[in-house]
Amino acid sequence: MTQDVRIAELADWAGEVVRVRGWLYNFRSSGQIAFLLVRDGSGLVQVVASESDVTEKEWEEIETLTQESSIILEGTVREDERSPGGYEMHLRDIEVVQRADDYPLALKEHGPEFLLDNRHLWLRSPRQVAIMRLRDRLMAELESFLRDDGFIRVDTPILTPNACEGTSTLFETEYFGEEAFLTQSGQLYSEATCAAFGEVYCFSPAFRAEKSKTRRHLIEFWMLEPEMAYYDHEDNLHLQERMMESVMARVLDACADELEELGRNLEPLERVKAPFPRITYDEALKILDEADIPIEWGEDFGAPHETEIARQFDRPVFVEKFPGECKAFYMEPDPDRPEVVLAADLLAPEGYGEIIGGSQRIDDYDLLRRKIHEFGLPEEEFSWYLDLRRYGSVPHSGFGLGIERTLAWIAGLDHVRETIPFPRLLNRLRP
Ligand code: 4AD
Ligand code: MG
Repeated sequence: MTQDVRIAELADWAGEVVRVRGWLYNFRSSGQIAFLLVRDGSGLVQVVASESDVTEKEWEEIETLTQESSIILEGTVREDERSPGGYEMHLRDIEVVQRADDYPLALKEHGPEFLLDNRHLWLRSPRQVAIMRLRDRLMAELESFLRDDGFIRVDTPILTPNACEGTSTLFETEYFGEEAFLTQSGQLYSEATCAAFGEVYCFSPAFRAEKSKTRRHLIEFWMLEPEMAYYDHEDNLHLQERMMESVMARVLDACADELEELGRNLEPLERVKAPFPRITYDEALKILDEADIPIEWGEDFGAPHETEIARQFDRPVFVEKFPGECKAFYMEPDPDRPEVVLAADLLAPEGYGEIIGGSQRIDDYDLLRRKIHEFGLPEEEFSWYLDLRRYGSVPHSGFGLGIERTLAWIAGLDHVRETIPFPRLLNRLRP
């Protein structure tokens, strides 16, 4: 039996006859020689077929082969610098598993809506494969960093009866006759688990019924949320810096090929070194004033504001100490200035904006209870959360990193829609 080999591993098989099982990506022929560009998910290889090496029937099949037909190829591996992976195959035998006629994503330009309608097929393109490989690596490196740091992953529920991040973006559903919501964030539950384990993170989809149609909003996205007992605001920011620096270095190292496929300028990513610059919300307001896009004290930033603030720095920048009124109910007020909270957003450069939002949490029972009322939230639903402040309450902090926004930045993409296999957008639930 001939050995089945993945394209990425062809280098180990130079001179030998192997089988590759994949799909036809592109084809060109010049007389008695045909060049098949074949993909198998691990890479691309050029397969050279000559009329003299195959049967007449096979040659006819090769000459009329269509894009995305599934094929099994047997041939000799040869080093060749013109082939995408540095190796090509000389065809000996071909089996067409299924002939694909009229593949909708012919190799030419397509509009974004058409591509999204065909997302199930678009995912096969080399560019999308590179993005998904980066995504996989980013997630793995984030988890591995936290694990190495002593964190454990504790999962949090998707179906919840409460609102973590404001009541305006809740996705409602029905839970056997009761009202329930899809989670906006696992944070409240992670606050419970961090009292059990010290340092935890949850990693799950989050849902926001946001009526925003921007290049950074998804309805369903993935969020990684560490939560740490006995961490104050400072400790929180230090962890974020260390994590970003380390994960960025590991991703750059592991995904050089993918970043090259995407044509990413690596320079801004190589500058992701701690410490990150830090400004207060009030300082950010001055920057915005000078840039002629002023906002009122108490308002949250929009995309153009974040872009302008981040533009002033050569690496990610923390904006800290936001007015409590524009943030969530659970954030610890600054003891020196109670109208601002010990929260920080990490803004990525190059126009990407907020990728992390975090804060120190209120640990005092009475204050938290008061905030729950001030924010118009039902105290009954938060009684378990208040318990955490009654039984061994400690200062604690945490943050949430949005995978898709972080990935859009690392990959240098215009829109988060390409960062998740099947994006859920304001106008899109399919495929
Ligand atoms: O700032 P957010 O809303 O913070 C929280 O949910 C906290 N509970 C996190 C925590 O402290 N544990 O969201 C955190 C991050 C944002 O910085 C952004 O990267 C991402 O989640 N995010 C979104 N990504 C894509 N589409 C959306 N609609 C997003 N909303 C937030
Ligand atoms: Mg935020």
